[in-house]
Amino acid sequence: MWGGRFAEGPSAIMREINASIPFDKALWRQDIAGSKAHVAMLAAQKIVSIDDADIIIDGLDRIAAEYERDGVPEDWSLEDIHMTVESRLAELVGAAAGRLHTARSRNDQVATDFRLWVRDAMDQADAGLAELQRALVTRAGEHAESIMPGYTHLQTAQPVTLGHHLMAYYEMARRDRSRFADARARLNQCPLGSAALAGTGFPIDRDATAAALGFDQPTANSLDSVSDRDFALDYLMAAAQCSLHLSRLAEEMILWASQPFGFIRLPDALSTGSSIMPQKKNPDAAELVRGHSGRIIGCLTSLMITMKGLPLAYSKDMQDDKPPVFEAASLLALSIAAMTGMVADSTFHTARMRQAAELGYATATDLADWLVRQADIPFREAHHITGAAVRLAESRGIALDALSLADLQAIDSRIDERVFAALSVEASVAARASHGGTAPVRVREQVAAARIALGMET
Ligand code: ARG
Repeated sequence: MWGGRFAEGPSAIMREINASIPFDKALWRQDIAGSKAHVAMLAAQKIVSIDDADIIIDGLDRIAAEYERDGVPEDWSLEDIHMTVESRLAELVGAAAGRLHTARSRNDQVATDFRLWVRDAMDQADAGLAELQRALVTRAGEHAESIMPGYTHLQTAQPVTLGHHLMAYYEMARRDRSRFADARARLNQCPLGSAALAGTGFPIDRDATAAALGFDQPTANSLDSVSDRDFALDYLMAAAQCSLHLSRLAEEMILWASQPFGFIRLPDALSTGSSIMPQKKNPDAAELVRGHSGRIIGCLTSLMITMKGLPLAYSKDMQDDKPPVFEAASLLALSIAAMTGMVADSTFHTARMRQAAELGYATATDLADWLVRQADIPFREAHHITGAAVRLAESRGIALDALSLADLQAIDSRIDERVFAALSVEASVAARASHGGTAPVRVREQVAAARIALGMET
């Protein structure tokens, strides 16, 4: 492609270090779409003839059919997907192919292709997250009243409803989707026509190519256009944050499936056995989601470090932008799908969860709150009185509501028999009906609103 300037061809090492085709062949659809939009614009602007443009577009369609059928051939001497397509075009249509690269450079070409690819990845993440949300909302609706222990410090804190707990992940997915949507809106400007770095002297129509490729408008500055990879970083940041949420959910499912918890039974289809211990059922998919989040965060770090300190405009370092994005996208898609399956198909052992919620004095706060409300005791003092009641119950190895009224009155005479109604786990969750609280009534409202937002049947 640049033989005119060179006396010798590249060494084998140069060819190998330079070749991006092993990974950027994933961009072939975007590359062909970009070239078709470009040449149609060149014809409309009378920069190439309509006949040549037709020949080129027909050739590009034939290449697309070939790649669809046989895959993209990998010839390192052709370096990348852009030259691979163009050289095949020359083989297929001859001299006209040489007109395609008028008024563009691989620098604006790759920036365009990659934006199109990342845009699809954002849309795919959004669709996957919507499915995960549907699964969460469905299970939350089934379990608006199921009681489980709520934890802080992984110590039993207060009873909560399982539906409330699942809806916490719905909220995380909602923020993840909005991060991908923000990133998509920022991404959606077209760099094509920025050429190598300075723009072009040909009378191109950048609005036309932008529109043809589904962008909102052309980018504003040609130097920035060919050296900007913010859209890929935005994607990776959203992906990293999303994977971090998925890893928290995965970790909870791993804990819940363990024997000491015994809260859930994971679907067989998303678990593995042990080759030596016949009784085992391992949460490998959840563990891998937890692990993949580390790799996705690594992908973000990798691209940030690649971009850091690069002078304007394009530098070949930027060719290394694609592997971390491709890797993160496939890990994220798998992680979202795996967690969706686990949420949708796990069995929740609600009796066991309720039993666990009764251990660990989870309703101690309810006793303190009762003292505040019924006996007008300041909360700090109520906290102290309740602490004494917990200590007594603990010394006897019994639950708070198993203490007798006499026991409680010995601690504080203002306590009366109405307190027992406040000490059940059902009363405890029902009482927490503040906005965003765990009460079944609030959870059902959240679920109903979410079903509408997701376009589910209500
Ligand atoms: N394969 C290159 C990349 O992915 C395409 C751009 C090459 N540009 C250049 N000036 N050599 O970044």
